[in-house]
Amino acid sequence: MGKVFTTEVDASGIAVVVFDVAAEKMNTWTEEAFLGFYDTMSQLEAAGDLRGVIFISGKPDNFLAGANLKLIAEIEDADEARRAVETFHSAFARLEALGIPTAAAIHGHCLGGGLEFALACKARIAKEGKNTIIGLPECNVGLFPGGGGTQRLPRLIGYPAMELILRGTMLTADKALKMGIIDRLAPAEADLLAAAKAFIDDIILGKADLKRPEFTFTEIDAVAQLAREGIMKVTRGREIPAPLLALKTMQEGLKVSLEKGLEIERNNFVEVVLSKEAKGSINTFYLKGMTDKPAAMMTRGFTPRPLNHAAVLGFGTMGRGIVIDILRNTGMPVLVKDIPEALEPGRNFVRKTLEEMAEKGRLRETVNEIMNRLTAVSGYVDDFGKADIVIEAVFEAIDVKKQVYGELCGVIREDCIIASNTSSIPINSMAPFVSNNSRFAGLHFFSPVWLMQLVEVIQGDNTARDTIDNLLNFVGLIRKRPLVCRDNAGFVVNAMLFPNLLNALKYLEEGNPIEKIDQAMTRFGMPVGPIRLTDEVGIDVPYKIFVGMGIRQDTLKNVVEAGRLGLKKSGKGFFLKDGRVDPDVLSLIARREPVEKGDKEIQDGLLTAMVQVGKDILDRMIVDDVRMIDVGMVWGTGFPAEKGGPMKWADLTGLSKKLFGRNFY
Ligand code: NAI
Repeated sequence: MGKVFTTEVDASGIAVVVFDVAAEKMNTWTEEAFLGFYDTMSQLEAAGDLRGVIFISGKPDNFLAGANLKLIAEIEDADEARRAVETFHSAFARLEALGIPTAAAIHGHCLGGGLEFALACKARIAKEGKNTIIGLPECNVGLFPGGGGTQRLPRLIGYPAMELILRGTMLTADKALKMGIIDRLAPAEADLLAAAKAFIDDIILGKADLKRPEFTFTEIDAVAQLAREGIMKVTRGREIPAPLLALKTMQEGLKVSLEKGLEIERNNFVEVVLSKEAKGSINTFYLKGMTDKPAAMMTRGFTPRPLNHAAVLGFGTMGRGIVIDILRNTGMPVLVKDIPEALEPGRNFVRKTLEEMAEKGRLRETVNEIMNRLTAVSGYVDDFGKADIVIEAVFEAIDVKKQVYGELCGVIREDCIIASNTSSIPINSMAPFVSNNSRFAGLHFFSPVWLMQLVEVIQGDNTARDTIDNLLNFVGLIRKRPLVCRDNAGFVVNAMLFPNLLNALKYLEEGNPIEKIDQAMTRFGMPVGPIRLTDEVGIDVPYKIFVGMGIRQDTLKNVVEAGRLGLKKSGKGFFLKDGRVDPDVLSLIARREPVEKGDKEIQDGLLTAMVQVGKDILDRMIVDDVRMIDVGMVWGTGFPAEKGGPMKWADLTGLSKKLFGRNFY
């Protein structure tokens, strides 16, 4: 085990403490780090003749990124949680009580427990530059700053600390200086240690400008009330423990002494750590990390093939979106094919959408530069021979797909990757239309493509692993988040949603109002309820799928046969333009024996329906890893991040054990 903290005292009596958690890219507060810290404190407390102490990281690009989330997620009981939080508190209390000037010299990430460490020092100096990031982002992972952050930051900078903590805002060094979190900037090219020594000398000589206004927090109740309203707006009325406990801790703790405030913080932190939402949020954090860089999901050691030319078949709703994302995220020229009448509207749509992005400052190039890479054609021109990857997004009809693949395979190279964006035709049933079909797979995007992060990457029976790896590389280039699965009706996301909808319709037929069913699910945290979602997607879409699966759904049948395909699609569906339920649709509901359901029963019923499909997807090895299902639901349907995905939430709520006798994670 390497030593995390190393102390050297220079000729002028300044102790320089360098910390470096061996074998890790980032410094975090591990058990070993705390042991080292306590030793260092004992040493510093015993040395009688020190003038000051500087704490600086030995890592090239980070100070300290906070607590170790893996360890926090594993905490199961209150005693363990209390021990963990007390470790932080007693460490920082000793640092604060040292009695000589102490300074944190910051470069790179200084987050969470890293900033709380720095806040326990008398002063802080930080290096400028884009790598330096300072903040308390705990609320974003279902926790709150529990190492003194809720008490020391507001006491240092006043009310603005509340918003920083509740939003989990991360600041650059100059912003942190303006807010008073740090006291001095060192230029990006400066020697940080030398600058820190000059700074601590100035502190000792009383020449440093340490602004430490006294804050009284007399208005705290009113400020907290406003903050609470803001939180409830963001969570759409849901009581999520992290921000609410953070707020409560500040509201109560800032009215009393620091010591008492820290005691309140410890008690509330135990509560937040044990909350299911903390564990769910940490799971989502890891799911995000896993899929942030799709190239890291490729087979180990695989070198992806260079992709220089892309082609898209179909310039409709989906084709346009796919074209936009290839164009704006990669330098690849894109060839798109459709019927002549579809080309101009497609081009106009792509240009308009890019212009909107440019207005918001989201593009790295001008719209004209991007549009110059787009060629729209109505025939199989020679340039198809250059394509390294073709994505097919033509009508959802198997005979159309068959004809398209037949023609396409005559003009592209034998090694050109082909991916279908089909939503319901099995990849295996189209594979025979493709020559050399080990290069053929599914790539299922979600609408609108440029807003939805998720893409399902589907491996057919004949698809080579290389093809999947190359597609993962492609998905990374166009900045999407992948879910890798095998061929399955509805792949993963739609397969999870279908039974959910069937149950929702059953509750409707049992006399529960549309509004109540949808509201139960938005209260659960879904962005829209199941009936509203069906109306938006097109009511005929799930209807046709159910028919194809041999499932009879009378309400959908009645509604579709009455020509109500959804408000957007045919002007009529379940809802009116003003958002209310259309009274005319009520007579089309196929009535059953009434069974009244409460919010909780509706939520449990719909979650159970999803989790049962998830279990089946795992049993049939449609995915290799349960995390893929949760990735799909969080980024494909907006399943609430604090619940960590339906499978994780089923584990956390005891549903997995109740249904299957075991957890999925
Ligand atoms: P769309 O009807 O908007 O566009 C299809 C386009 O394909 C039309 O412009 C049509 O002219 C063109 N097309 C037809 N035959 C062609 C051919 N032989 N060569 C070139 N172009 C041809 O349909 P949409 O919604 O874009 O769907 C396309 C595919 O994407 C379908 O397989 C669909 O299942 C799938 N999909 C649709 C989603 C959605 O939300 N609309 C979501 C995910 C997948």
